[in-house]
Amino acid sequence: MKPKLVVFTGAGISAESGIKTFRDSGGLWEEYDINDVATPQAWDRNKELVLDFYNKRRKQVLESQPNDAHFALVELESKYDVHIITQNIDDLHERAGSKKVLHLHGEIIKSRSTVDPSLIYKIKGSEIKLGEKCEKGSQLRPHIVWFGEMVPQMETAYIIAEKADIFIVVGTSMAVYPAAGLIDYIPNDIPKYLVDPSDVKVNGVSNLKIIKEKASSGLSKLAKELMGEKTSKAL
Ligand code: APR
Repeated sequence: MKPKLVVFTGAGISAESGIKTFRDSGGLWEEYDINDVATPQAWDRNKELVLDFYNKRRKQVLESQPNDAHFALVELESKYDVHIITQNIDDLHERAGSKKVLHLHGEIIKSRSTVDPSLIYKIKGSEIKLGEKCEKGSQLRPHIVWFGEMVPQMETAYIIAEKADIFIVVGTSMAVYPAAGLIDYIPNDIPKYLVDPSDVKVNGVSNLKIIKEKASSGLSKLAKELMGEKTSKAL
């Protein structure tokens, strides 16, 4: 059986594909107020504004391509049982070819019924329009987990994380819970890596190697090391 490699990704892994992160300087939450576009209250107040915000995000995702960081994780599948647990709503891991991807915060390319959460649809084109309804007649919403909502995939993520043989964190500020707490479910003796060009606060995590680089270069090097190939530069 292949060793289990669990990779926890955030907006930083898609930054080099041209998708804005949230909390970096120039990030999305500088341009928009979370309370206006990413909460159930925002949806109740102004559906058009919320739809417009996610329609813009969706267009950007559809115009983007996976980068070397996404592809490095695909290569690792030849030697490892790779499970990606992502906070990202884009589909760049899937488009790169990763087989096991769990989205904690939803998927931008899908819409969902507002009366029956089990009704999830692939969006045709790039927009959800006001007045577009599910088969039970309710307005469609983005298939996104908003602030203040439950994270339905969290339990599945804990189960995957607890069984990791190696754990990698890439491109997340570790600011949003419960997702950021996933690292606490990794046993102490398991090797952990964190790839991020900025200083990310992770306290009390044992066996952690920090690779202070962008996702593409950092993950390409780490993937070589994990594949047992020599890297040109020490990590
Ligand atoms: N390579 C790797 N990491 C990068 C790169 C890069 N090229 N560019 C930026 N980063 C790092 C930043 O240093 C930062 O640590 O990516 C991280 C991005 O952090 P956030 O913007 O906070 O994104 P994320 O952690 O994914 O946000 C979590 O917050 O708003 C919500 O639901 C949204 O899923 C998102 C959640």
